[in-house]
Amino acid sequence: MAANPNRIFEGILGRITALIMARSNRAAEAEAVAELDPRAHHRVLVVGFGPGVGLRLLDERLPEGHIAGVDPSEVMLRSATRRNGRAVADGRMELRQARADALPFPDADFDGVITVNTIQFWEPLAASVAEVARVLRPGGRLVAYTHDWAITRVTGKDVETWAHDTAEVCARAGLGAARHWRARAEKGKSIAFSARKTEQEPP
Ligand SMILES: C[S@@+](CC[C@H](N)C(=O)[O-])C[C@H]1O[C@@H](n2cnc3c(N)ncnc32)[C@H](O)[C@@H]1O
Repeated sequence: MAANPNRIFEGILGRITALIMARSNRAAEAEAVAELDPRAHHRVLVVGFGPGVGLRLLDERLPEGHIAGVDPSEVMLRSATRRNGRAVADGRMELRQARADALPFPDADFDGVITVNTIQFWEPLAASVAEVARVLRPGGRLVAYTHDWAITRVTGKDVETWAHDTAEVCARAGLGAARHWRARAEKGKSIAFSARKTEQEPP
């Protein structure tokens, strides 16, 4: 695994990364929102919102709903807040500086969780997935998209092995029906992964 892969999201480098991601990751963000296909009243959490493009797209889909987001980077929090100023000011959107493994939300608070180009950074993975399972309502869905190359670079695994291992981690946390497929974004060089909170408690 690369040393501190998150350094590119902080400081001056983080500001440049935010500008690049806002443009280059837009298609994957849009595809993830379309895949989750939330109802207008749904509550959706975005983990690793980066510059906040996906938050903005979600806001257009949830006129009666609520959007929450977490990202550990102060630079990304500022960038996403600027991009979504109206929704934040109106209280439709709540953005926090936090990580996937310590989500500052109550149990069963969300209908869906979206994470784009971020799940490979979830460390520890099991604790992060457990947190996502905790904040999802029964039947709620996790939708994750990420670049193939990023999975391999950050986790050291090929995409199929990563998807298999992640599905097992999800199952242990109570997220079942895991599946993965080729995303359309990046000409198919991204993976999409989905799992659903089961109605029963994990064993
Ligand atoms: C490659 S960027 C993707 C941002 C945005 N979703 C996009 O696709 O443009 C990864 C983001 O995940 C955040 N991140 C890193 N580790 C995280 C963690 N453990 N929990 C939540 N977010 C994390 C980073 O700060 C960064 O903003």
